[in-house]
Amino acid sequence: MNVVVLLGAPGAGKGTQAPLLAARLEIPVVATGDLFRAAVREGTPLGLEARRFMDAGRLVPDEITVRLLLERLARPDAADGVILDGFPRTAIQAAALDAALTARGAGVGAAVLVDVPGEELVRRMSGRWICRANGHPYHEVSSPPRVAGVCDLDGSELYQRADDQPDTIRTRMDQQLGSLREVIDHYRAAGCLRSVDGLQAIDRVAADIDAQLTAAGIRGAAGSGRAAGA
Ligand code: AP5
Ligand code: MG
Repeated sequence: MNVVVLLGAPGAGKGTQAPLLAARLEIPVVATGDLFRAAVREGTPLGLEARRFMDAGRLVPDEITVRLLLERLARPDAADGVILDGFPRTAIQAAALDAALTARGAGVGAAVLVDVPGEELVRRMSGRWICRANGHPYHEVSSPPRVAGVCDLDGSELYQRADDQPDTIRTRMDQQLGSLREVIDHYRAAGCLRSVDGLQAIDRVAADIDAQLTAAGIRGAAGSGRAAGA
């Protein structure tokens, strides 16, 4: 079972890299932010509860987040592994993930930090557009869609996230960077932390993540760190 954790500050590029990596490793992406946004759209009790925290730029409480993640990991498509985008975000979540994986005789193979400094994070989030159907991210300057307002991959409408307003962006960074450091420390202590320079172009970041995973012994179903056919 390949479990790869993508770590990074809000706006670092986790959601951009995760599907590229999932295609190469042939395992699904599990992104807690996407799961929460789906619950908000559906108006479920969990979505209503999560929305209060998300709109305020704060982390959703661990108890709710861990339950959601463990339910998702129990689904059959996660049996061979997952790319985790946006989880764990606290030391408590990291310990809960370790316990759940240990119970399956597995563990986190690599935690890859996509490292991007603060000023660039603000630029990335404030220019971001996301597709309604699948959350594919675009940026109005650095990675615009071929047709304005339309997703290249699935044709759905692009929108700006409610938490990508300037005030909320600042709160997210203030509230969340401290706990990111806790999670980085957790994986450094576990000996599986790796880091890539997230300031590079998207394809360079992807290539560096591949190289780090290959060095960690994590390979796709085709037996290579690169995509089947790539
Ligand atoms: P979540 O959806 O996970 O948001 P986030 O962590 O704040 O991260 P983002 O999605 O904003 O950034 P990203 O790293 O995915 O960047 P992206 O690839 O889009 O969480 C939202 C909320 O849900 C949280 O605030 C919290 O309330 C709650 N939540 C979620 N998980 C939780 C948890 N585990 N515990 C508690 N609460 C939780 O890229 C950003 C932009 O940059 C895009 O426009 C993209 O096109 C562009 N870009 C990407 N890479 C590059 C590059 N290399 N060069 C130039 N531009 C680039
Ligand atoms: Mg994201």
